[in-house]
Amino acid sequence: MERILTGDRTTGKLHLGHYVGSLQNRVKLQNEYDTFIILADVQALTTHFERPELINKSIYDVAIDNLSIGLDPNKITMFLQSKISAIAELTVFYSMIVSVNSLRHNPTIKTEAKQYGYDDLSYGFLGYPVSQAADITFCNADLVPVGDDQIPHIEQSRKIARRFNESYGKGKEFIKEPKALLSNNPRLIGLDGNSKMGKSLGNAVFLSDNAEEVNEKIKLATTDVNRIKITDKGNPEICTVNKYHEVFNESEHKNINEMCRKATIGCVACKKLLANEINSILNPFREKRGYYEEHKEEVRDIILTGSEKANIVGNKTIEEIKKAMNIYI
Ligand code: TRP
Ligand code: SF4
Repeated sequence: MERILTGDRTTGKLHLGHYVGSLQNRVKLQNEYDTFIILADVQALTTHFERPELINKSIYDVAIDNLSIGLDPNKITMFLQSKISAIAELTVFYSMIVSVNSLRHNPTIKTEAKQYGYDDLSYGFLGYPVSQAADITFCNADLVPVGDDQIPHIEQSRKIARRFNESYGKGKEFIKEPKALLSNNPRLIGLDGNSKMGKSLGNAVFLSDNAEEVNEKIKLATTDVNRIKITDKGNPEICTVNKYHEVFNESEHKNINEMCRKATIGCVACKKLLANEINSILNPFREKRGYYEEHKEEVRDIILTGSEKANIVGNKTIEEIKKAMNIYI
């Protein structure tokens, strides 16, 4: 069985953007692949190091988000990044073979650095693609299911693996070059029309939102601003709600599109249809979520068991790598 590794930073609850970009894919893939899910708490610190209380709560939030959408704890290995010593060690080794320039020019780093401000940019932040390469390769993952914003990091991981193999592999592929596995869905924009749905941008529908919250949020989503009266013909192409229909209401979206253009549907009704679709996706998750929220000890056990398993895999990798690097006595 080939292995996949993917996961999320533990900086808050996951939203629909995560769901269509990566989580939905994970559920399908768990049956075909040996699936490793990382709760990236160390990477969370790259931007949230001053908020330790948030990180701890988020570990449970993100774990429960993953479990509630249908990842099966009996099939997958879900683990906590900070518990895996191989990841920490590999990060140090990899940091020797990655150039600072390639990190500075990483497009995702550039975008995020702008968002957080360059002045306080930490060494750890600049280097997080290196630790992500360690996340992916400590278990020799073949595939990494991610959203398109992560492509530069997977590229960086491939380069690191290649360089490592060239330097220490003696013709062997010691470290597997991982491949990104993208979802077929377009990236989900924010409710406000912003190009990205973001945890902290105030424009997200969270997987943990209840039906009422979903309804309220969709009501506030931006539409075609030129459509003021219900008799005005709309332009769905510039409407956020329509973009969501494309993703969550595939069978009806063309129809709705046309009705909008002819002004035979109003925005209130159109939004109601969307909210219903989203709630029908989230409903089954809500039941599972309720269970795990009530059984946090079980969630903790799942993470601890997964981390133990990941450590066994990681320790073996580290042994081999150190030998290849000639650092042993
Ligand atoms: N950087 C990823 C994100 O922000 C999270 C992540 C950390 C990750 N380690 C990973 C994703 C390894 C895939 C593989 O979403
Ligand atoms: Fe957007 Fe729907 Fe209103 Fe058209 S009817 S502008 S698609 S919300």
